[in-house]
Amino acid sequence: MTTTTRTPASTGAVGSAHTRLEGRDKVTGAARYAGEIPFADLAHGWLVLSTVARGRIRSVEDAPVLAMPGVLTVVHHGNAPRVDTDYVGMLGRPNPVIGLFQHDRVPFSGWPVALVVAETPEQAREAAEALAVRYDEEPHDVGFSAGRTDAYTPESNPMVQAETTKGDVAALLKESAVVVDEEYTTPEEHHHPMEPHAATARWDGGRLDVVDANQGSTWVAGELASLFSLDPASVRVRSEHVGGAFGSKGVGPHQVAAVMATTVLDRPVRVVLTRRQMFSLVGFRSPTAQRIRLGADADGRLLAFDHQAQSLTSTVHEFIESSAVLGRVMYDADAHHTVHRLVRLDVPTPSWMRAPGEAPGSFALESALDELAEKCGVDPITLRVRNEPDAGPVSGLPFSSRNLLACFEEGARRFGWTDRDPRPGVRREGRWLLGTGTAAATYPSGVGPSTAAVTAETDGTFTVRINAADIGTGARTAMALVAADTLKVAPDRVRVRIADSDLGPAMIAGGSMGTRSWAWAVTLAADELVKRLALGGAIPPGGITTRSNTAEAVGALEKKERHSFGAQFAEVAVDVTTGEVRVRRLLGIFAAGTIVNPLTARSQFIGGMTWGLSMALHEEAIRDGATGGHVGADLAGYHFAAHADVPHIEADWVDDPVPGDPVGMKGIGEIGVVGVAAAIANAVWHATGERHRDLPIRPDRVLGAADAARRRAERGEPRA
Ligand code: MOS
Repeated sequence: MTTTTRTPASTGAVGSAHTRLEGRDKVTGAARYAGEIPFADLAHGWLVLSTVARGRIRSVEDAPVLAMPGVLTVVHHGNAPRVDTDYVGMLGRPNPVIGLFQHDRVPFSGWPVALVVAETPEQAREAAEALAVRYDEEPHDVGFSAGRTDAYTPESNPMVQAETTKGDVAALLKESAVVVDEEYTTPEEHHHPMEPHAATARWDGGRLDVVDANQGSTWVAGELASLFSLDPASVRVRSEHVGGAFGSKGVGPHQVAAVMATTVLDRPVRVVLTRRQMFSLVGFRSPTAQRIRLGADADGRLLAFDHQAQSLTSTVHEFIESSAVLGRVMYDADAHHTVHRLVRLDVPTPSWMRAPGEAPGSFALESALDELAEKCGVDPITLRVRNEPDAGPVSGLPFSSRNLLACFEEGARRFGWTDRDPRPGVRREGRWLLGTGTAAATYPSGVGPSTAAVTAETDGTFTVRINAADIGTGARTAMALVAADTLKVAPDRVRVRIADSDLGPAMIAGGSMGTRSWAWAVTLAADELVKRLALGGAIPPGGITTRSNTAEAVGALEKKERHSFGAQFAEVAVDVTTGEVRVRRLLGIFAAGTIVNPLTARSQFIGGMTWGLSMALHEEAIRDGATGGHVGADLAGYHFAAHADVPHIEADWVDDPVPGDPVGMKGIGEIGVVGVAAAIANAVWHATGERHRDLPIRPDRVLGAADAARRRAERGEPRA
């Protein structure tokens, strides 16, 4: 680490820029990822996925494959070890896709039907591709669209409240001087970390030892223990380096397959997913169809607020893409309604993907706010100032801190917003129409229980043990800074051990809760150690260790609205003859509590914003109604932003003290993406005068909108 050298007496490690502790190992290749750690006698498993979208497996014709070179076994529903999926894990009931090979039913295209294990990955792959699986096919339905009559309102689950209602929306819409009532859609999107999912499992002296790439080893170990009915203490999961995750790296079929195969063969087995397999096995963001109704007085003050968000789930498990949660935090109105609806289809179960809910929800809601501003003739930032709530619009709880307007103020200043001509479609630069747009961002600042240990070693260094997951965020480095700050030592005297379930239970790297959760535990243990060391005396061999467990404190935390906030700004250029949209500038200003490491924090924000750009303009997974599978299920077919699409992006933050908060950090992993697609869509409207309510804003859609506008103008009709 390039340490900003600090004297032992100073605090201040938190808030100063540090490169990643493991950065050198990563760029030199010394860091090993789950799929490349060597094991003696390693066998390789290759998953075989269903080619039909619904039906039953009639036969798995494994005999010819078992005779192929190097093949050791074929595991399928006819011979697989039994697992127990009737449990409630750390994040709820398990997705049945991890109840691998337990029956002959196929609920979607890409469902795992067999694992072929061989001496080499090449042999396993060749045999897997040769394996004949026969099906009795049934008709399937993969067609998601707005207004499906079979959409239902799900039960709330521990993570998502399905519906909230306050007042009479219909009545107050009638009383409103200005009404916006529009539908917005976002397509199916996929999170594909650079590192594909991989796991190696083996039995080691009676313990199950799994080397994995995940967002929480406590979580994955707990799921594997439940599935295989093992004593939790006899399962160890390690995940030293993770090449990105974004919600996709929990427990999946690959770990379960590896455990089954090592149990059958009694030798280490590795299962690595291919890019193509990831499209059906690691979750994705559901498409959404969202209707937003806003009723306001002539000045834009909201009287009625309604956000109805439809998404899809599978036939085997329920997942709610919580797009409608934003309004419960952001905007109050006398009548206020938010609801999620689901359609069950013959597709894989969607899952958490960076800013689940908030990412697609903010496209719809922050576009609708812009439409309201336009209709009221009010500046979009002024509109938000006028609708800034004093307390949670639905909960009535106070905010732990809410510095949204400070973000807009700083952002407007830096972006040059105040000089903006609000009229759409009037700025031209050669073939380009230019426009600017803005949107608000928010994401919850949650916290989960964690344990930590800090040791004062005899050589004057310190060791922190916390089962954090560093999924590329810089979590390991952040924990070193947090510990150094409390211990009042230079960060280079702190060594951090993470990503090993034997370190004790800790929160996952998810929901933007990792740093906040782990920092709390590390601070408590380090505090305790400082007190112990202050008593004096020599440090015994083995050091002095103090431990913490935040479970009780987390449970006792005062109920408040706790969220990060942000303001996103975009400038675009639109070529109306080709339909090309170029983003020229993005600026995001965030209020996210204490920023631990400005260097990696800025990267997190910029990464999220880049993702938002990609969502606005490029990303869209296409399902083929005939086969029920994807068209172009690879990184060539799934279009996303490349270097040439990404302009100068600036991210920064405002001071955001959180009075009385035990940690002060809020979490930054997801908020960067929130609002970006709306800011870009709003900028495209400002450039062209055309609203884009369907993502992505593809060239054909830009051209179609321009054509429609020309025809309307010829008929003397107003803009859409
Ligand atoms: Mo995040 S989508 O909770 O990893």
